Amino acid sequence: MRINKYIASAGICSRRKADELIEQGRVKVNGAVLREPGFDVSEGDLVLVDGKPVTGSERFVYYALNKPAGYVTTTSDEMDRPTVMELMTEVSARVFPVGRLDYETTGLLIMTNDGDLANHITHPSKKVFKTYLAEIDGEISLGQAEQLRRGVDIGGYTTRPAQVEILKQAGHSKVRISISEGKNRQVRRMFKAVGFNVVSLQRISIGRVLLGHLHEGHYRRLTAEEVDYLKNC
Ligand code: URA
Repeated sequence: MRINKYIASAGICSRRKADELIEQGRVKVNGAVLREPGFDVSEGDLVLVDGKPVTGSERFVYYALNKPAGYVTTTSDEMDRPTVMELMTEVSARVFPVGRLDYETTGLLIMTNDGDLANHITHPSKKVFKTYLAEIDGEISLGQAEQLRRGVDIGGYTTRPAQVEILKQAGHSKVRISISEGKNRQVRRMFKAVGFNVVSLQRISIGRVLLGHLHEGHYRRLTAEEVDYLKNC
């Protein structure tokens, strides 16, 4: 089996991420750093990732984390900022975040060691709606909300149709917005396109998986129904 698939099916990370680990020299096969991304693993080969053996025996696990502001959504950070990994205190499996939330964004993040599920949810062809509560620095008009619904230019790219509901308008506004794609800083750039800065941003759902009353910095296991839904959405 090709090395990236072997690492992904052991539940360590996605295939794409496995390719990166190989490139970074973090994968060894039978004692030597692997330099060949297309390597085929045979029975009896000893594969190490960051010095730890890949046994294929890890079970898949799935969590919902309520990410606080001030954490990066990566497994390690060059600038030494806190990572979401540090919040998964009681989880021994090598989970990783599915998709990204900005450093300042709070809310629902799925953490798993199932690389195929991660690829499935984040694939650009998927149209799972992710819903956010955004506080913005001004009063949004019905016309501007309609522009967001139809799609706005966020710098050479026009966003897909979105669902937008104004929840509060008093000097600043609170808006619920659902988008079916995940361009970098998309919600912030969408509001910028109609003239506002996002003051705070919280993701409250990914498809039918809800953040609910999970406290910031806490996590829970996804239910079997939620995992099933995500695998088939
Ligand atoms: N859109 C953003 O602008 N930021 C996020 O973290 C998620 C969606």
